[in-house]
Amino acid sequence: MRTNLLVANWKMYKTPAQSAEFVEAFLPLISNKNDEIVICPPAVCIPTMVDATRTSSVFVGAQNLHWEKEGAFTGEVSAQMIVAAGCTHVIIGHSERRQYFGETDSTVNKRLEAALEAGLTPVVCIGEVLEEREAGLTEDVLRRQCAVAFRGISGAKAAKLTIAYEPVWAIGTGRTATPKMAADAHAVIRAEVAKAMGDELARKLRMLYGGSVKPENIASLMAEPEIDGALVGGASLDPKSFAAIVNYGAARG
Ligand code: 13P
Repeated sequence: MRTNLLVANWKMYKTPAQSAEFVEAFLPLISNKNDEIVICPPAVCIPTMVDATRTSSVFVGAQNLHWEKEGAFTGEVSAQMIVAAGCTHVIIGHSERRQYFGETDSTVNKRLEAALEAGLTPVVCIGEVLEEREAGLTEDVLRRQCAVAFRGISGAKAAKLTIAYEPVWAIGTGRTATPKMAADAHAVIRAEVAKAMGDELARKLRMLYGGSVKPENIASLMAEPEIDGALVGGASLDPKSFAAIVNYGAARG
């Protein structure tokens, strides 16, 4: 059984004071006691968030890390630093980092190795852009991204690996992949993981969907057995809306 995982990616939104306000409003609204809930705020909010969530079941994650432990890398933060600050999870290779900050599949590979080494739960983001989907290249793109990102990483080390399939055309656009499209992509990714790291890891691997996840569509996405959770951008910034997402199963009882 894979534990579902609901992750908020706040991107570059909220100050420490605003993140503390969010937590105060959000915690009493959570009724989901079964799934893992993670919030990834901007790096400067991490200490506030770790403090504010200490007595709750909510985990705090970072949005990025550097693969070196320390060094002359202005503006970067290492795995050891985010662990020391209280993070348990980290997002790696988000499409915005690929698009605006030169992230490549091979830097994803280095960051992934560093995250696993430090005991973090990495959430590795992959997904195709619109032109690739329209050209029928989605599967090729996912296979290439996986092959490079997982190079040299053994199944034995990768128990905590989590993947987020985020079709770039669905991010912040209001266009969501259908549950079937997401499930098909997840099946391709799971097969690649089996090839790279073995069947057992592939069976246990948690795979999230990301891209315009909202309170209105979360239940139908989570109904797909291939979808083990969601990576949520815009709709995670408001406590009521993110609570409605994490409580997607409330109607199930
Ligand atoms: P939206 O939920 O705003 O589409 O963003 C998705 C995303 O990029 C999460 O990492």
